Amino acid sequence: MKKSNVFVAFFLGLALIFSTVVKADEGMWIPMLIGKNYEQMKKQGFKLTPEDLYSINKASLKDAVVSFGGFCTGEIVSKNGLIFTNHHCGYDAIASYSTPQNNILDNGFWAKSYSEEKPVPGLFVNFLVRMEDVTEKINAAVKGISEDQKAARIDEVGKQIASDAVKGTKYDGFVRDFYKGNQYFLYIFQKFTDIRLVGNPPQSIGKFGGDTDNWEWPRHTGDFSVFRVYAGQDNKPAGYSQANKPYTPKKFLPVSVKGLKNGDFSMVYGFPGRTDRFLTSYGVKLATGKVSPAIVKLRDIRLKAWKEEMDKDVATRLNLSSTYANIANYWKYYIGQTEQLKRLKIYEQKQKAETEFSSWAAGKPEYAQLTDEYRAAYAAYEPFALERTYINEGFLATAWVKQAVALALAVQKADTAAFKAAKDKLAASLPEYEESYNAIADKKIFVKILASFYNDIPKNQHPKFYTILAQDNWQGNPESTFRKFADHLWDNSKLIRPDKLKAFMASDPSVKDLENDPGYQYAVNLIPADFIKINMGSAVTDFDNKKAALDKLYLKALLEKNKGKLMYPDANSTMRITYGNVQNYSPKDGITYNIVTTIDGVMQKYVPGDAEFDLPKNFIDAYNARNFGQYGQNGTLVVNFISNNDITGGNSGSPVINGKGELIGLAFDGNWEAMSGDIAFDKQYKRTICVDTRYVLWCIDVLGGAKNIIAELDLRKDVPAK
Ligand code: ARG
Repeated sequence: MKKSNVFVAFFLGLALIFSTVVKADEGMWIPMLIGKNYEQMKKQGFKLTPEDLYSINKASLKDAVVSFGGFCTGEIVSKNGLIFTNHHCGYDAIASYSTPQNNILDNGFWAKSYSEEKPVPGLFVNFLVRMEDVTEKINAAVKGISEDQKAARIDEVGKQIASDAVKGTKYDGFVRDFYKGNQYFLYIFQKFTDIRLVGNPPQSIGKFGGDTDNWEWPRHTGDFSVFRVYAGQDNKPAGYSQANKPYTPKKFLPVSVKGLKNGDFSMVYGFPGRTDRFLTSYGVKLATGKVSPAIVKLRDIRLKAWKEEMDKDVATRLNLSSTYANIANYWKYYIGQTEQLKRLKIYEQKQKAETEFSSWAAGKPEYAQLTDEYRAAYAAYEPFALERTYINEGFLATAWVKQAVALALAVQKADTAAFKAAKDKLAASLPEYEESYNAIADKKIFVKILASFYNDIPKNQHPKFYTILAQDNWQGNPESTFRKFADHLWDNSKLIRPDKLKAFMASDPSVKDLENDPGYQYAVNLIPADFIKINMGSAVTDFDNKKAALDKLYLKALLEKNKGKLMYPDANSTMRITYGNVQNYSPKDGITYNIVTTIDGVMQKYVPGDAEFDLPKNFIDAYNARNFGQYGQNGTLVVNFISNNDITGGNSGSPVINGKGELIGLAFDGNWEAMSGDIAFDKQYKRTICVDTRYVLWCIDVLGGAKNIIAELDLRKDVPAK
């Protein structure tokens, strides 16, 4: 699951008492502290030591797992810095190298030598060097400081701790908070920025099943791509240079082609982005009742308008497909999450847990009022929640508006350096803007979003420009008025059409130039802080501050309540381990899903010429010849499998590792029946969907003919029986 950058809601998850029945295995554990889970891991089939997982004295598994671009996970699989990750993690890089003439997204690509590998500007990977608990240092620094200054001080002290820790080294560092500010860890890592694309299957394999199959099991997707880390002559991070060499890692994963069975140990090691497991019942109610349905509606508008244009010609499809895929991924996510929160009665479960919490907290002055305070905070905020969603997912979802708002924010600071930085940033993003600009779709989306806001948000919350538009040229039909407004902006603003924007930026515009621009004038109305102040009073900021304070207290209470039990913190894009087993499940009464799918199932879904279910010709040929190379088993080829591990967005591409520390698959998705998982982990239904290494290698080797890549790997096959 690739990490989304949108706001995800939060919850109440507790109790990590291990059950003896093998069910989904909740918990995203901190590698440095994994010793606490070790006995349980051993019981479930883990054969290595805690030191093999995380060590600062010798090479350990952590050295083979990287944060891939900050939004996914990758694993090192050769002594030459080869990385496996998901296809949907490499998608943007692959699409950026694709043109109608050299269409590697549709046709696939395999570098047959280092010189054919394609550098990806902007992409990086981070290796964790070490981590350290710095809670005491942070707490000491904020002692006696007033509540409203704490957050800023913590931020400042965290940065200081990190910069002190990396002084004189080439490492980077940051401090992250855990349990909503009840614990702090320092992370030191090594960042490599010369990352090159080594190969990818055609997207008919890498994204087989498309949005129809996305977030669902049984699945048949070859969701992998291959990259390589490059380093300077000294094997240290270096900016892109032809002279750079493949990086020699401290550790790489051997790749198993032995196969798996129900109940086998499996562990996922990676960088889960964000969970909201401690979200209260009030938060769940707001998400299912208001916020998530609005996100789905607003994304639907964008997807429909883009799809119409993408279907018209290949160049447009290639330009828009990466952004389209990201929007579509979380469009379906919010549909599934809402459906499962309701089906699994998460609101009721949380209410029950809160009642139980309240009786524990009764008589404890610090905590006794918590639940009531949450209720009051949500009640005050609720009338404005929808409007806020429309700002973030609606107004600011149009790229040029977001850019213009960024300029307006800089102008507001009245600081020449900030203004220059904002202009430079915009100038640097021009190629990307140009690529994903689509006059017809963008204008359609702009109009529809203005109209939806007008129709869906109470009139007394409308920003002033609505009233002004209405006065000037209202024609009874808001959409036609907004269309006229859009035409006016598109014709007269220098910030919208890429050719005009380029020329405008090249002229190094002054604040005055901007202020004369109608697109800029529109954007000024949408500066989030101003918009909130004018339209919602302090309801939103008060809520954010109040909620942060309540969350911190709530977690403090839960840590106290669960003293002696293991309790993991919410995901926060730091390295975690989740362990469990390859495990089947029953989605509903009378049905049991297998742990694996096979290539026979891929062929059963095959629809020639379809946008989601087509297959390459050489795939069909190899299938018909049953040419599975060394990767087949029982006359077929395993494609995907499921395990009961606990993952979320950001874990995409994570290694799935067996009890011996060998790679058996890449995690790439979650299942429909447990889409509520980021808010409440369901022990019965939650599964991780993985692509089997044997399918990955078959695609590389038999279909791609990239023997050079196979030769780099350390393959682990069955030891023949004596
Ligand atoms: N659901 C997957 C995840 O979040 C992404 C799958 C991408 N495929 C797609 N059809 N959009 O990691």
